[in-house]
Amino acid sequence: MAADLSITVNGMVFENPFVLGSGPPGTNGRVIAKSFDLGWGGMVCKTISLDPSKVINTAPRYGKLRSREKEEVIGFENIELISDRPFDQWLDELRYLKKSYPGKILIASIMEEYRKDAWQEITRRVQETGVDGFELNLSCPHGLPERKMGMAMGEDPSIVEEVTRWVKEVSTIPVWAKMTPNVGHIEVPALAALKAGADGISAINTILSVIGIDLKTLRPQPTVEGYSVPGGYSGQAVRPIALRHVMEIARAKPGVTISGMGGIETGSDAVQFMLVGASTVQICTGAMLRGYEIIDELKADLEKFMTDHGFARMTDFIGKSLPFFTTHADLVARQKAAKVARAGGPGRDNETWNGAITKETAELTTN
Ligand SMILES: Cc1cc2nc3c(=O)[nH]c(=O)nc-3n(C[C@H](O)[C@H](O)[C@H](O)COP(=O)(O)O)c2cc1C
Repeated sequence: MAADLSITVNGMVFENPFVLGSGPPGTNGRVIAKSFDLGWGGMVCKTISLDPSKVINTAPRYGKLRSREKEEVIGFENIELISDRPFDQWLDELRYLKKSYPGKILIASIMEEYRKDAWQEITRRVQETGVDGFELNLSCPHGLPERKMGMAMGEDPSIVEEVTRWVKEVSTIPVWAKMTPNVGHIEVPALAALKAGADGISAINTILSVIGIDLKTLRPQPTVEGYSVPGGYSGQAVRPIALRHVMEIARAKPGVTISGMGGIETGSDAVQFMLVGASTVQICTGAMLRGYEIIDELKADLEKFMTDHGFARMTDFIGKSLPFFTTHADLVARQKAAKVARAGGPGRDNETWNGAITKETAELTTN
């Protein structure tokens, strides 16, 4: 039996769990339509706000970290703001997209200033277009925090709770709150959003970073007229950090709806997020670097994983790796017990340990 890649989340039926994350891949209606034609299950549009005239981007606004040998882009930094396109134009495009692609899931990413009337106005006006859900951008780490928006809200659990509650008061569709990883314990703001009624959590937004310094000019990058600001780090390099954050949220609230992201470029990357509790995954940088066409590969990878393991539905394996996270003290106790068991009883610990030495460790110890 073929693996079923569809999944229903908060009542939204995704034909597959692959969603383009908010950013350049969802910058206007035309490219969103293209992604739907190519087979993406859903899309979170670039974050929109009521008054885009306050949004002024710089050029350049991207920086890349390349691997030493292959020149492959392993990390990506941006200082891009939210959408600078007119709000009314967005409303027209969202309306058109929902009419033309009724079977695709279209989620509107929204952000506003710290005012109840603004958040409720944007919620009301955007939901009239027929979008399937909202994602609250409480997490952009650069530019917007200077206006007390984005991460300035997301790092304060009481503001996360308040803003989520404002939106939930008027929203008739599911609401996901998007978390910043630039906090010590991401589960704290995530739980605050859930307390206020959020239907799900999206994680992670980008990690505050300085991508590099130009050794000729001595200026930080990306350099705008000689100067820079810390930006948001994404792409493959952030995946282990993103996985950890998703795992922490899933363990803090078992069964919670999570849309996981951060460095996903292949189906195998995506599956790992599902194993720690994500029911959908989002891809932003991966699509920028590898193209929208990766959707075919993502679906094929996921299908192969499910077939290899005999999983018929995604719900058969979402969160399946979570029970294997424990405390360090427990690891030590388990290791001790296993050594004793392998040695056939106490007293032969050293012999068992030597047998387990890897080639690399052996080389290090003899050098
Ligand atoms: C150039 C760029 C622009 C982005 N713009 C937004 C945005 O407008 N709203 C938002 O919520 N996230 C935005 N993000 C963050 C992504 O949606 C995503 O959370 C993050 O990049 C991690 O996923 P990735 O490694 O797949 O890119 C942006 C990311 C990039 C690289």
